[in-house]
Parts: sequence; C-alpha cells; structure tokens
Amino acid sequence: MFIENLRIDNFRNINKENLYFTNKINFIIGNNAQGKTNFVESIYFSAFLKSFRSNKNIDLINKNIDFFKINLKVVDNKVKNIIKIYFSKEKKYIEVNGKKPENYKYLNVVVFYPDEVNCISNFPSFRRNLIDKSIFYINYNYINIYRKYLRCLKQRNIFLKKNSKDEDYWKNQLINYGSEIIRERIKYISKINNIFNGDFFKKTNSENYTLKYSNNYIEETVEDQLTEEFSRKETRERQLGYTLAGPHKDDILFYLDDQPVESFASQGQKRSLVISYKTAQILDYKCVQGHYPVLILDDMTSELDTHRKNVLLENLLENSGQVFITSTDINQTNSFADSKVFRVANGSISSVD
Ligand SMILES: Nc1ncnc2c1ncn2[C@@H]1O[C@H](COP(=O)(O)OP(=O)(O)O)[C@@H](O)[C@H]1O
Ligand SMILES: [Mg+2]
Repeated sequence: MFIENLRIDNFRNINKENLYFTNKINFIIGNNAQGKTNFVESIYFSAFLKSFRSNKNIDLINKNIDFFKINLKVVDNKVKNIIKIYFSKEKKYIEVNGKKPENYKYLNVVVFYPDEVNCISNFPSFRRNLIDKSIFYINYNYINIYRKYLRCLKQRNIFLKKNSKDEDYWKNQLINYGSEIIRERIKYISKINNIFNGDFFKKTNSENYTLKYSNNYIEETVEDQLTEEFSRKETRERQLGYTLAGPHKDDILFYLDDQPVESFASQGQKRSLVISYKTAQILDYKCVQGHYPVLILDDMTSELDTHRKNVLLENLLENSGQVFITSTDINQTNSFADSKVFRVANGSISSVD
C-alpha cells in the first residue's frame, strides 16, 4: 500500500500543497518548526482520523482559516482509491471513490515518533493502545468488540453509581466482550514474542525482548479468571461507583532480557525496543495482509546519524514499503537509493530534484 498523491489545504501551517511520492523512501527535510511533523501528521490523520500528538482535531485546522481538506490517491494492491477528507467545526466528511465509506479502512499507517519512547515507559494506557491499534489493523472485528465493551462499561458504571442490581446484566456482558479482547491481545502478544525470538531478530539483535500480559491470563480460562476478578472487586466497585476490572485496566509489560523496561532499560535501549516492536508489528502485518503499511518515522535526525551502525533501523527500512522520514539534516539522505527528497520551509513543501 502506498500514497501516490497528496493534496493538502489549510492543515496546521501547510496552506496548499499537491505532492507526488515514491513508493519507497520519502525524506522530509527542514529546520525546526517549519512543518515537517505537521506534514506527516496529515498522513497519519488520513489513516486514523485523529492525530498522534493532539486529542483535539480542531487544533489541526490552520489558525487563520476555518476548515482543512486532505485528498489522497492510495494504491492498494493495484487498486487506486481516491480519498477526500474535509474537516471544520460544523462539518466533517470523508469520501472514498465518491461515496461515504461504511468502514473506513483504506489507509494503514504505522508511526514512530520520539515521544513514544517515554510514553511507552510511563503510561499503561499508551501500551494498551499500542497493542490494540496493532490488532485493529489485522482484525477489523476487534474494533467492533472494543466499542461494544466500552458501551457496556459506560452502562455498568451508571448502574454501579445508582447502586442498582441491574449492573449485573452489564457485568456479564463486560465479561463476555472483555474475554474476547483479552484473548485477542494474548494471541497477538504471543505472535510478537515469536517474532522477537525468531531468526529475524536473532541474527541482528543481541538483546532479548518479551511482552507480557499483566494479569497472567491464560487463553483457555480467561472467562473464569475475569469472572473471579470481578467478584473480588465488586464490593469496592459499588463503593466507588465504577468498574475496576477488565481489559481497560490491564497492562502490557515490556521486558528486556527478563527485566521490566520502565525501571531497567536505558533511553537508547527503550528506543531500540520501540523500533523493534514496530518492525515486529510490520512483519506480522505483512504476513496477514500480504502488503506493507505506510511507515512514518518522525524526527529521525539522530537515528540517521548512526544509520550505518543502526542495524535495527536498517532492518526496519528493509522490511517496509513506502516510508516517510522527517529530519533536519539533508546530508543524511545520501546513502539511500530509491529515495525522493522534499524540503519544508514555513509550511511550504517542495520536491528537491
Ligand atoms: N493550527 C495551526 N495553524 C497554523 N500554524 C500552526 C498550527 N499548528 C501548528 N502550527 C505551526 O507549525 C509549526 C510547527 O510545525 P512542526 O511540523 O511541528 O515543525 P517541525 O518541522 O519541527 O516538525 C509551528 O511554527 C506552529 O506555530
Ligand atoms: Mg517535528
């Protein structure tokens, strides 16, 4: 899958652009605060309809104007899809090939950005989200289960607050959907661990990564384990008025050589872990979907510096399709064949050829 053409209107500081990309490596070069991240953010937004660095989509509209538009031509297994996105306070729409899509799944993007390294160490919600998003990509039904789970959670919390017996019905629904979510996560974690332990990582990586599900769930007995956890916490839940058990509270832990990453790994090791996770995710994605997702590597200046030594990054690039790399240093682009370079200055983007 790759983006052939992108047209942007009024997205953050980018006013009007019409760009054609290579299906290999696209470098986005420019000084700080010129719009490099804004540019890749527009690509990420086109995939997820939200940003990776802001919870408020309103922030993405250019501050002098009241709407933004993104139009893309995405080639997916030789089929070309035309995607049109319009966003304003009053009106949002998305169109694929002239129609409103039922399920929007026409562009898959994997992103790596520097802040992720800290988020992964510090926030369980970020770790859950990372795994959940990876599963959404290869199992579209997962998002439906997830939405149903969240709906039940909201209902149960309402009844818990009212101290009503009816919360029992919602608890059973939560156990149903929650078990499905946990089972999918266990399966995914086990696939990623197999990739971490497989030949691909063995030949390049001296470090040993493992993911573990916090509650020691076992695939075959998840339902019973979750039921038990709910009964253990129910008295407290009634006092507090909200749900304390379930996949929205679980954690997924990263280990480096059997030590928990948060408290043990150095900054560099954490970064390697995140890059390795993304590589494993992409390898699995390719295996399931038969093609590569679009990869965004934001702010890779320091990484590219050590490119020759950075086996992990090299591995990732060898196992990707279309890539967008932002960096402040144009000299870093020399060693890559099949690449196209774009310069960003004050929100304007131009191809350097
Ligand atoms: N909604 C917006 N409207 C106009 N400019 C914006 C908006 N949001 C951010 N900017 C500007 O974008 C610039 C930062 O762009 P960014 O892509 O983060 O830079 P970098 O090239 O360092 O990645 C800043 O100058 C900021 O003021
Ligand atoms: Mg940036």
